[in-house]
Amino acid sequence: MASLDRFRVVGGAQLCGEVSVTGAKNSVLKLMAASLLAVGKTTITNVPEIADVDIMSDLLTRLGCSVTHIRDCVIIDVPESLGHRADYDLVRKMRASINVLGPLVARIGKAEVALPGGDAIGSRGLDFHIKGLENLGAKAHIEHGYVIASAPHGLIGASVELDFPSVGATENIMTAAVLAKGITTIDNAAREPDVVDLGEFLISMGARIHGLGSSILTITGVESLKPTSHSTIPDRIITGTWAFAAAMTRGDITIHGGRAVDLELPLEKLASAGAIITSTADGIRVRMDSRPKAIDVATLPYPGFPTDLLPMVIALNAIADGHSLVTENVFESRFMFVNELIRLGAQISVDGHHASINGVPELSGAPVEATDIRAGAGLVLAALVSEGETTVDAAFHVDRGYPNFAEHLCSLGAKVSRE
Ligand code: UD1
Repeated sequence: MASLDRFRVVGGAQLCGEVSVTGAKNSVLKLMAASLLAVGKTTITNVPEIADVDIMSDLLTRLGCSVTHIRDCVIIDVPESLGHRADYDLVRKMRASINVLGPLVARIGKAEVALPGGDAIGSRGLDFHIKGLENLGAKAHIEHGYVIASAPHGLIGASVELDFPSVGATENIMTAAVLAKGITTIDNAAREPDVVDLGEFLISMGARIHGLGSSILTITGVESLKPTSHSTIPDRIITGTWAFAAAMTRGDITIHGGRAVDLELPLEKLASAGAIITSTADGIRVRMDSRPKAIDVATLPYPGFPTDLLPMVIALNAIADGHSLVTENVFESRFMFVNELIRLGAQISVDGHHASINGVPELSGAPVEATDIRAGAGLVLAALVSEGETTVDAAFHVDRGYPNFAEHLCSLGAKVSRE
């Protein structure tokens, strides 16, 4: 039934109040997958209440782990002997399943992981993941819809150069290299805070990694790793979403746990749109007193503007004062949701990977449909500044990234219900 759920939003409220940010989805799933690297009980805290955590728990359980989930804590008990196959029925639900590939090859010398397939935001290849593992001495190929990788005699450190700083490929290669013999360098590595969080998790297991947060990672392989305890970093995309919500609705939101350091460029952009951003004891406060000014944005790998906040920036520009140009450089189909915004009266034209937006003073409510997590959240923000009622179908997409989104919005004064 969940897939039939929709948000019903009555526009016009200014969002004011306080919210707390939970742990990052894009970090916790990778930490859970990396727990496979050490036999014994690993504890992860600050775990968000999202369906993807349950999917990853199912996947790890099928590989032989026993997973206990109590409130915001997940304990993963990893056995000596692990399964090596991640089936399509689970992998298709969540691309982060591919993150078991590196740890399985490193720990047990083989893995069969279903190809996650395409996505509503664009094709998402695995060639960098496969090439990276091959550099480390694994044999890898694709057969019957599965990546089949093996390294029966273990992996050997090597130099890996990524054509693009892919988050997933950096993570898979890093989690493989920690148990390889010798030194691995990853050149043009992703620098996202989620990659850093994973690296710190691995270091706390006994891994030797140098250069986290830079484009060159140097990893010296160790014989074995030990289980650990780790708290997931706060979700910077949720933090950014609340910041845009405050700016768009001319509200005032204090975001507890929001880390400004992970969002320098988006916050700078919001400030140039007219938002007043201040640091608080444990987060940030975003206030907006007037109609936002249009802002030009181009998405890029971190520390560039995050592609996951693209729908929010387009939604803001749709009601901003002036004309803007938004360029997407990471996923080719991010603009799919623009047609839904146009249904709300936005004036947007898309040409290749550029969107040209003429801000209008107000949108007008209509039924729309979420096509992916972030597009769904962007549409809900647009609904908040639309006159009348908007329904956003396929709420399950939003649930994947935003625990209790409707409840949080209501607590800030929005008129949102779920049906
Ligand atoms: C992760 C995030 C996603 C975020 C993205 C970029 C998770 C679960 N998802 O996705 O929310 O939007 O980082 O910050 O953490 N590519 C290839 N070949 C490869 C790998 C990637 O061509 O082997 C391409 C992709 O098609 C895409 C680009 O590289 O165009 C970036 O992808 P990547 O950084 O790998 O994103 P994900 O890890 O899938």
